[in-house]
Amino acid sequence: MKRINIAIDGHSSCGKGTLAKQLAAALGYKFIDSGAMYRAVTLFVQRAGLNPEDEIAVTSVLPEIRIYFEVNAETGHSDVWLNGENVEKEIRTLKVAESVSQIAEISEVRRFLVAFQQKMGIDKGVVMDGRDIGTIVFPNAELKIFMTASPEVRARRRFDELSASGIKTTYEEVLGNIRNRDIIDSVRSDSPLTYTNEYRLIDNSSMSRDEQFEMALKWVVSVLNR
Ligand code: CDP
Repeated sequence: MKRINIAIDGHSSCGKGTLAKQLAAALGYKFIDSGAMYRAVTLFVQRAGLNPEDEIAVTSVLPEIRIYFEVNAETGHSDVWLNGENVEKEIRTLKVAESVSQIAEISEVRRFLVAFQQKMGIDKGVVMDGRDIGTIVFPNAELKIFMTASPEVRARRRFDELSASGIKTTYEEVLGNIRNRDIIDSVRSDSPLTYTNEYRLIDNSSMSRDEQFEMALKWVVSVLNR
């Protein structure tokens, strides 16, 4: 059976991870959350007390950072590990979200993570979500999906998700962070989030998880039969 790589890019908190996980489970592929890797670098930088805008300082600690994924026996999902510690929960806080887009603007950080991401996709059978997966990480991905939804819908979903996992925040704070990251991620000079005509578009502002999954699965089947 032919194996493909699937790239899912789009704005923050629009359900890329949810769709990527559903597709990976249905196809028996690996799901890789590239944003988790940028978040893990950010956590390391914050713990080291460095200024996320200090490119030289951030670049100098990259050789000390080891990031990898391991399947969590309890949840069945892969968690991100940073230098021997499971940081899956801690990287989701708003504190990390507040600095992650500054860290992701640094070209050396991107080179460091992109090399690792490309290695993970070498044998195909990967569903990876992020901002630059279809443009930079896997420019030859057989299927590229771009996801978006209105900022308000995304903020509501992310707020509910954070609240459910016990993280204290407000809807306004989450909406502000989402708007801010949308701008930084789209205007940065290295690998900005860019919609091209190679992508199939999903605006899920008023679409259920099942509807978007069915739509994407049809695209997968048509690519596999090509
Ligand atoms: O979960 P959410 O959609 O809010 O974001 P994420 O996928 O965890 O990514 C966090 C941040 O990492 C983004 O806002 C980007 O600044 C950066 N990122 C990136 O630059 N390139 C990627 N491939 C993935 C994430």
